[in-house]
Amino acid sequence: MLGPRRGWQALRRCVSLPRAQREVRLRVREALGAREPAGEVKVQGWVRSVRSQKEVLFLHINDGSSLENLQVVADPSLENRDLTFGSAVEVQGKLVKSPHRMQNMELKAETIRVVGPCDTLAFPLKTKERHPLEYVRQFPHLRCRNNTLGSLLRIRSEATAAIHSFFQDNGYVHIHTPIITSNDCEGAGELFQIETSNEAREPAEKTHFFDVPAFLTVSGQLHLEVMAGAFTHVFTFGPTFRAENSQSRRHLAEFYMVEAELSFTESLEDIMQVMEDLFKTVTSTVFSKCPRDVELFHKYIAPAQKDRLEKTLKNKFVIISYNEAVEILKQASQTFTFKPEWGCDLQTEHEKYLVKHCGEVPVFVINYPYDLKPFYMRDNEDGPQHTVAAVDLLVPGIGELCGGSLREERLPFLRSRLQRLGLTDAYQWYLDLRKFGSVPHGGFGMGFERYLQYILGVENIKDVIPFPRFSHSCLL
Ligand code: 4AD
Ligand code: MG
Repeated sequence: MLGPRRGWQALRRCVSLPRAQREVRLRVREALGAREPAGEVKVQGWVRSVRSQKEVLFLHINDGSSLENLQVVADPSLENRDLTFGSAVEVQGKLVKSPHRMQNMELKAETIRVVGPCDTLAFPLKTKERHPLEYVRQFPHLRCRNNTLGSLLRIRSEATAAIHSFFQDNGYVHIHTPIITSNDCEGAGELFQIETSNEAREPAEKTHFFDVPAFLTVSGQLHLEVMAGAFTHVFTFGPTFRAENSQSRRHLAEFYMVEAELSFTESLEDIMQVMEDLFKTVTSTVFSKCPRDVELFHKYIAPAQKDRLEKTLKNKFVIISYNEAVEILKQASQTFTFKPEWGCDLQTEHEKYLVKHCGEVPVFVINYPYDLKPFYMRDNEDGPQHTVAAVDLLVPGIGELCGGSLREERLPFLRSRLQRLGLTDAYQWYLDLRKFGSVPHGGFGMGFERYLQYILGVENIKDVIPFPRFSHSCLL
């Protein structure tokens, strides 16, 4: 398939080519964006509508390159029984200026070939219908042919590229951290253990494939910290697994996490600045690269989201301490299911209240109680093991979007914490990092699906992944 540039270079060359070689394959997006008419082009895609009139046959074709369809105008004699909504077609003809105000170009068909017919009665998607997200979720294998999911998948692809560009442009080195690992970075016990099918059938204490129990990663952070001993700026962006209730509207068992680690960093402010810059840069890029796809969400799924986000992109995010957060919650007139107390984790209801209290904007909460957070977080030394230099970014409608911290880079502090937790043997290698050129460092992780949920205003996290897993028996 020719890319946009090469496609048009070929178009310009086509004048002098013999007929057999003159045909240029164009994507719908390229055809719609063409500035000049062109002869002998071929477009392939799926039929989104067929309208047959006495004098003329209209088709709308989509190939996934844009939300907009390409209008095909044909002689009614080209109609055939298999040319229905959902069928796969190849149309050859001339690209001409469209007389319609809503589109720039249309394709005047000379031939239409049905490559793959579609049984429209059995096909769960119907022409011209705006299917609700809950409806299309029932068809994980077909829902990408729906407009909303099509837009979502293009946005997801652009956001992925924008995240990589953000880090590359700022001098970060991309690290592929392992998916299979023996450590539990977060220490929360939400691990999927992996074993060979033989191990699964035999008693557990028999041989492990790797000699030690192995798990699907819950975070690439510890591996990034290894790399932060040689590269001052590193990031990873990959699949992450948590064995927690994936039936909630913001939790998945398998999700993507963006993580960054910065060496020679002594302040949480530096980490928060990267989080804020990442959010703002990626969001602006996505909005400018796929405006029509984003508009679909902001028009039909979450009407007020666009204005709110535009305001968010212009203003500084709010910063409050955990202490302040607890005070705000204690003074709230609202009664919570979980009573707010210093030392207790912030629940979703608390996060929602805090975000509302701060004006429905993103809020950083910093300096959490020592006992609430994982072993790697840096002691603030504001009392005997009182608080750690942790930061969570809370956003409207979602709750926690990012989690990060300064890491404990001081060997004695880390050693005694690991000793108390009985983890010294398992983390010898991690202690080693504090013996050989240890530097103050820190980083964060952002849930990619929660990010998409937030910028698009999508209620259920299952609607921002390519393949929804709504039951354990449906692992497509
Ligand atoms: O706050 P978490 O657990 O932080 C870490 O794993 C750190 N080790 C990251 C780091 O500092 N490098 O997870 C980070 C983010 C959360 O804020 C949330 O957005 C997302 O990952 N997340 C989930 N997203 C979807 N489904 C789940 N089950 C998630 N668990 C965490
Ligand atoms: Mg967290």
